[in-house]
Amino acid sequence: MERVVRTHRCGDLTSKDLGQTVTLCGWVAKRRDHGGVVFIDLRDRYGLTQVVFDPETSGGKIAHEKASVLRTEYVIQVQGEVRKRPEGQTNEKLTTGEIEIAVTELEIFSKAQTPPFPIEEETEVNENVRLKYRYLDLRRPMLQKNLVKRSQITQAIRKVLVDHDFIEVETPLLYKSTPEGARDFIVPSRLSPGEFFALPQSPQTLKQLLMIGGMDRYFQVAKCFRDEDLRADRQPEFSQIDIEMSFVDQEVLFPMMEAMMAKIWKEQLGVEVKTPFLRMPYEEAMNRFGSDKPDIRFGLELQDLSEIFSQSDFKVFSQALQESSRGGTGSIRAIVVPQKAKEFSRKDLDELQKFTSQYGAKGLLWIKVNQGEELQSPAAKFFTDTEKKQLISSLSLKEGDLVLCVADPKNKVVFDALGALRLEVAEKIELVPKEGAKDPRFLWVTDFPLLEYDDETRRYYALHHPFTSPKKDQLSDFLEGKNLDRMAADAYDLVLNGVELGGGSLRIYQSEVQQKMFEILGMNEEEVKSQFGFFIDALKYGTPPHGGIALGLDRLVALVCGVKAIRDVMAFPKTQKGTDLMATSPSVVSPEQLAEVGISVIRMNSGDE
Ligand code: AMO
Ligand code: AMP
Repeated sequence: MERVVRTHRCGDLTSKDLGQTVTLCGWVAKRRDHGGVVFIDLRDRYGLTQVVFDPETSGGKIAHEKASVLRTEYVIQVQGEVRKRPEGQTNEKLTTGEIEIAVTELEIFSKAQTPPFPIEEETEVNENVRLKYRYLDLRRPMLQKNLVKRSQITQAIRKVLVDHDFIEVETPLLYKSTPEGARDFIVPSRLSPGEFFALPQSPQTLKQLLMIGGMDRYFQVAKCFRDEDLRADRQPEFSQIDIEMSFVDQEVLFPMMEAMMAKIWKEQLGVEVKTPFLRMPYEEAMNRFGSDKPDIRFGLELQDLSEIFSQSDFKVFSQALQESSRGGTGSIRAIVVPQKAKEFSRKDLDELQKFTSQYGAKGLLWIKVNQGEELQSPAAKFFTDTEKKQLISSLSLKEGDLVLCVADPKNKVVFDALGALRLEVAEKIELVPKEGAKDPRFLWVTDFPLLEYDDETRRYYALHHPFTSPKKDQLSDFLEGKNLDRMAADAYDLVLNGVELGGGSLRIYQSEVQQKMFEILGMNEEEVKSQFGFFIDALKYGTPPHGGIALGLDRLVALVCGVKAIRDVMAFPKTQKGTDLMATSPSVVSPEQLAEVGISVIRMNSGDE
């Protein structure tokens, strides 16, 4: 009889299977020799099974002899009988922990060199080594579990969307610039020398063209490419669940996304997610949390002290407000850290000041509330009795509280600095729940501003992207170029525990509005025509009102898996420097290849080599 390759997988067998003859395949995870008996932990994606080469077992002698050459990571096939592990040798942590296989036949499929690091759940080895040998790293249970979850989550999303009549459409990767605020990756063309494709930063224009094409409901698990500085939650190449719908508004879109999240949380974590999700306008999120992606699991909310200190003798405060009154938007704001004043030494406070300076704050004023409501602070001598009283009563300060203030003529600085400080302090005093995913506090941040003015470049930028529509009632102002600073958009982000999971908006669907948007963003007619002429034309042929959203799949999966870095939920991620250490890319190409695409390379001194 021909032998099957395997009858079971390494996570399958339990004491229910005692006495069965089985065939297993896998990698040698561990080898131990005990008094002439060889024990192997055999590993595959499904688990570990202990297999025993015992010369005393009937039929086991030859297999035992063969087993002497086995080393870790050899790939083998074993046949044998399922038997109970001896008393005291059971392992409750394993599904297969009560049984072992008494091997009668062994086949070695392939030998393995000693791996550069042990394939274990926890590994101390430097991440760059792991990335260089990613195929070995992928054998670790953590990455295997994460990739399985990623696949399951993607299937759950497909199911929800297909059930709602969405169709999955693939859009090209060799395309034209689709601006999402990053630089493009460009691809030279051999057939059109000197000309380039751009890899899409998202399929934004393509999905809108699908709406013009009458597809009505589209989605795609879309690869997106953004040449930007990388962080733990950013990769140059990542995946979005990209969604677009015609004849839609938030009230249609939000419940679908909520159902999708609820399904994922139920299936993956057994957690019932409450719907509908909380909604918070952008302005409230900024005022209360200093962030457009607030973590609402804890307090430390921002408080505005501008009123109290409107006549302050403290120069830092008065200057911030004075400069702000000259057309700026400044303020003095603070967070109160309750009952923790004693835990923050001078050194800690200096470090926090340094931390906030990264966000542009010129300083960080601390105030400690001592016994008898005495306020201790480097600026205490400048505070009047009335100011002190108002401060204590409006912030409900108690002995032992610590107040941390930032004043600046620009609210952006105040929000950025205090928003980040709030998270930093929350980490420090352990307010942030460790098992984040089990307590998901989903939040829709809505009503984003349409535009943002940048003082340095002296121009407007689209806060979401240039295809986002001004709110309906502001369209005529927009076309006249009025009130641009205060213009709001039907743009929304889905936020979870302080992470921006996704973002979307209702789109511009009239060509003259789109043309005006590009104009406001500082593009001249020629630029608009060459970059987006096709799109503006398309809008002229009967465009349905439409809108959509894109969820960052990597971030979503990372949250569910409880890992910080999205690298841990991607099969082949890039390093923080955007390189691939395994295949060594990017890499130089031959002069012939360059000549074919009409490119000559100018070597630049990068300075960091
Ligand atoms: P946006 O630029 O907000 O919107 O992107 C949507 C979501 O994609 C994820 N994301 C990233 N994930 C990993 N690495 C990156 N470099 C990265 N950049 C973004 C985030 C983000 O919320 N076309 C619009 C969507 C729309 O309007 O429908 C867009 O791309 O989770
Ligand atoms: P200075 O007068 O610059 O020595 O600052 C006195 C105190 O005010 C120090 O504790 C600074 O950290 C703090 N400070 C300075 N600038 C600011 C600012 N923009 N916002 C809040 N505190 C500040």
